[in-house]
Amino acid sequence: MSRKLTINILEYDPQDPSDRPKIVSFKMDETPSLSFYLVLKYIKEHLEPDLAYDVVCRAGICGSCAMIINGTPRLACKTLTNNFKETEFTLAPLAGFALIKDLSVNTGIWMKGMNKRVEAWVHQNTPMDISKIERKIDPDAADEVFELDRCIECGICVASCGTKLMREDFVGAVGLMKVARFRADPHDIRSDEEFYELIGDDNGIFGCMSLMGCEDNCPKELPLQNKIAYLRKKMVELG
Ligand code: SF4
Ligand code: FES
Repeated sequence: MSRKLTINILEYDPQDPSDRPKIVSFKMDETPSLSFYLVLKYIKEHLEPDLAYDVVCRAGICGSCAMIINGTPRLACKTLTNNFKETEFTLAPLAGFALIKDLSVNTGIWMKGMNKRVEAWVHQNTPMDISKIERKIDPDAADEVFELDRCIECGICVASCGTKLMREDFVGAVGLMKVARFRADPHDIRSDEEFYELIGDDNGIFGCMSLMGCEDNCPKELPLQNKIAYLRKKMVELG
């Protein structure tokens, strides 16, 4: 027999001056392999047409469906109801980002600012010549870059971060991973001194308190704390 689920959703439209944050409860039957994306789709199609949430790929690739599920930031499309003993769930928008409405937040503005702050692009001193064949790089360096490039900018590490709660301008694990990614890339000519200029302060590498929330919750299981600790060691040597 299928379980009966209670889904509580924090609903609020900050664009509507007459609206106030409220928890709205919905009941539904659990089905096999029911993800929270499918829960929200069911609620929107059958119970609450105005409900706002973000979803694009439904496959853990785009990072847009991150939200707080029973107190923990998770991807709605990759989190199944039957992985929980409980049958009552509370869904809230991802903390640390501008609320658009209900479960929809604007991670894009924050990510754009962070990417600009850490200059998250390959820096070279010669113009690209597309007539030349690709430059070979060491396979270990390529593996390192590919590993760190798996970040989907979902924002879960930011929402899980105690430092981000205290320091609005903290670049978060995602920002520090960008630096680690470009520092590992042999195509990028930047020196450690130049990376220090970008993140050598309390809103960068020295702000992290190693609380581990980022790594505990990262849906791509990136080695965030390991990389941050290594980067901090390198930056301390310059300071
Ligand atoms: S590091 Fe992990 S949690 Fe943070 S944005 Fe990237 S994929 Fe999401
Ligand atoms: S919808 Fe793309 S990660 Fe969930």
